[in-house]
Amino acid sequence: MISLKGVSKVYNMGKGTETRALRDVDLQVFDGDFISITGPSGSGKSTLLHILAGLDRQTAGEYLFDGVDMARASDSLRCRLRNQRIGIVLQDFGLLGDDTALENVMLPLVIGGVRGREARARAKSVLEEVGIGEFAGKKVNELSGGQRQRVAVARALVHDAKLLLADEPTGALDSGNASALMDLFERLNAGGLTIITVTHNMAVAERAATSYSIVDGVIRLERG
Ligand SMILES: Nc1ncnc2c1ncn2[C@@H]1O[C@H](COP(=O)(O)OP(=O)(O)OP(=O)(O)O)[C@@H](O)[C@H]1O
Ligand SMILES: [Mg+2]
Repeated sequence: MISLKGVSKVYNMGKGTETRALRDVDLQVFDGDFISITGPSGSGKSTLLHILAGLDRQTAGEYLFDGVDMARASDSLRCRLRNQRIGIVLQDFGLLGDDTALENVMLPLVIGGVRGREARARAKSVLEEVGIGEFAGKKVNELSGGQRQRVAVARALVHDAKLLLADEPTGALDSGNASALMDLFERLNAGGLTIITVTHNMAVAERAATSYSIVDGVIRLERG
């Protein structure tokens, strides 16, 4: 599904404030993989996920998603892949706090042109799938951290994504909720979803079949 070859990312290239966030990253991901990536703060984890999601581009090397060269693909193709095949849960969730859980999950469908009633039904069923159907009508601001995290996962998956990218998904959760979220990830992965999750938490990392670490932008296979 994913092939990275020699991928590097330099922020502020040529501006005197250059930051080398990724160095020569090689990574192969196959359909159905469940991968964790650990590493210290500032090591390049979010940078890598943003490139994988098509939210940002590498400054060197090649990224193929299902054979599509993501750095060279047209904006419209990149957007379509990002919206329909790839779901991302950002480090800060990126939810609209004054809107309900259901409205947040419907949003990608509505933007994609799905009609209101169908969008509502699909969003409701994904919220049920991640175990928070009963909170669909509540404002996100009024939900707990663990519940918000599930709303963010539901929103990432509502388009039937085949790849879920999650940036520190258990960061705001206590160990019980973190473990419940990993149960959900295992169940989704067993259903065929490919998952790449970034985490500081070794207990979370160990739940994935394959583990990588990143230090100073250099990736290394730890297990799997
Ligand atoms: N938009 C940006 N502009 C310039 N530098 C950036 C930008 N985003 C990240 N960086 C730098 O790139 C490096 C990697 O950042 P990144 O956010 O990928 O780290 P991380 O591993 O996700 O850290 P954390 O665990 O704290 O979330 C850091 O040195 C960071 O300061
Ligand atoms: Mg980060």
